[in-house]
Amino acid sequence: KTIGLLFGGRSAEHEVSKLSAANVLRALDPDRYDIVPIGIGRDGRWLLCDNGNGGGRGAKSLEIPDGAPQVALLPGGAGEMIVLNGAGPARSLNLDAVVPVLHGPNGEDGTVQGFLELANVAYVGSGVMGSAAGMDKDIAKRLLRDSGLPVVPFLTLTARSHVDYKAAKDALGTADLFVKPANMGSSVGVSRASSAEEFDRACERAFRYDGKVLVERSVTGAREIECSVLEDASGDVRASPLGEIVPADSHGFYSYDAKYIDADGALLRIPAELSSFAAGRIQDLAVATFKTLACEGLARVDFFLDPRNDDGLYINEVNTLPGFTAISMYPKLWEAGGLPQSELMEVLLGHAIA
Ligand code: DAL
Ligand code: MG
Repeated sequence: KTIGLLFGGRSAEHEVSKLSAANVLRALDPDRYDIVPIGIGRDGRWLLCDNGNGGGRGAKSLEIPDGAPQVALLPGGAGEMIVLNGAGPARSLNLDAVVPVLHGPNGEDGTVQGFLELANVAYVGSGVMGSAAGMDKDIAKRLLRDSGLPVVPFLTLTARSHVDYKAAKDALGTADLFVKPANMGSSVGVSRASSAEEFDRACERAFRYDGKVLVERSVTGAREIECSVLEDASGDVRASPLGEIVPADSHGFYSYDAKYIDADGALLRIPAELSSFAAGRIQDLAVATFKTLACEGLARVDFFLDPRNDDGLYINEVNTLPGFTAISMYPKLWEAGGLPQSELMEVLLGHAIA
């Protein structure tokens, strides 16, 4: 089988995707698959990075070489992809399936998934609906709340909302707030605010990334617990053991720098120390979240747990194409659950092709 590995993308998480893609490439068995890495440039063009032997294996980050030829996936073409290299006769490649290793807008949000639907090619992960619903924190939280699932109280702002710090604080009931772009990942554009000045700065920053911004109550002292969810070819959905993120005090929260820049920015504790009752409840909620948001294939569901309050468990968000780097929680949790990455890729491709 020929597998297209899509990475990069027109998103602020472009660099994270390159790290994830290098790791996914390593986990795909070269004896079983012809792997065609396709880098999406920051301008949105699809570029052929290698012609089927999965070049770049072993690198920490998958790169898009200078002068890589542009490719075009044909609508209705059942995976036929034309190589537009200008010189010589046109060549084409046939993809049996695509692994979109893309994070954030223009990749994780249903846009690429719609494109792959039109190209009539199988792909790993959620379809258009699950991807779009999972990416938009405002839509996702409304759907979860309407299903009776616990989410942290929030307000949704647009550029026309005119909600100031005092109004947000009064509505949400705490002085400490989080401000986030509705559609983004890896904590890009996320800030904490506990004064009017910080709030204005945080909003200005979040609006750089999206026309819609969420303001959330901060759960003081919350533990961050994450759960990987996987659906197999038969439609069986299961939850992994749980992991805990312990951000270093110097970062204050699990920010972009704590995730990817500072090697000591956060500690991943696997399995998370929890009673089996609490762990079971979180795993059930992870599966319920996956189903409520119409996710398919895979997702990582992130939680806040208030250690001082037995009822203080909240779904923070869902990631339909979670980080897949060598240090990422999604593959690590499945490893802890007895599923090495190569087998994880088999399940994901099995679900895609089924
Ligand atoms: N958005 C990043 C990649 C994650 O959730 O892991
Ligand atoms: Mg996210």
